[in-house]
Amino acid sequence: MLQEKTTTVDKYQVLSEEIATAVAAQLALKPDSCLGLPTGNSPLGCYHLLARWSQEGKVDWSQARCFALDDYLESDEQISFQHFLQTNLYQFTNLKSENTFNPRQVDNYDHLIEQIGGLDLTLLGIGENGHIAFNEPGTPLDSWTHSIWLTESTRAANQSYFSKATSIPRKAVTMGIRTILASKKLILIVSGQKKREIMERALLGQVCPEIPASYLSLHPHVTVLSDFEL
Ligand code: PGA
Repeated sequence: MLQEKTTTVDKYQVLSEEIATAVAAQLALKPDSCLGLPTGNSPLGCYHLLARWSQEGKVDWSQARCFALDDYLESDEQISFQHFLQTNLYQFTNLKSENTFNPRQVDNYDHLIEQIGGLDLTLLGIGENGHIAFNEPGTPLDSWTHSIWLTESTRAANQSYFSKATSIPRKAVTMGIRTILASKKLILIVSGQKKREIMERALLGQVCPEIPASYLSLHPHVTVLSDFEL
């Protein structure tokens, strides 16, 4: 009797490989690329792969410039997005520390990005409330890097990074919508079924400040990658 074979495909792993391959290809094509990088669970698998490939000598970051999309304000240094990127990605690469940037440490982030030549590729996650980076609902299209108050739903979604709810920061600094849309290429990472509804509203509905991710429809080169069937 024929035994039925079942293959389990780890869709998150496949998604992570797709993103990591796109980043590696970008760096191979343009070694001094400027990358916009998010924090969170969505890009984590991609960072782990890039870390491994970098250790194996397959990805060269020696000329790359990396810009964190956002960061908490008034939080412990150990729970910063700079720390997240350092521990999950940067430390495993040959990226020069002077080529890593964070909006919390730079006065005029947009000017710096422009001076360096502009973002070539920016990865983005999406919040369940439709935020991209920390551009919360209501953020206008014409926004550059700015500080914001985090919504309660975003604070709740970030709770796992903190030992107690009262430590979750209320303020953050984020690239604005214009900063993001000025990136030559964008990859929106949508991981988990819980993001499906907001993704559909963002990409199929009207462009509106209530769903900041809807602004992505205005960009000519966005790739949406998810770990579920679109
Ligand atoms: P997540 O966060 O990747 O941890 O789901 C995404 C976001 O809030 O932008």
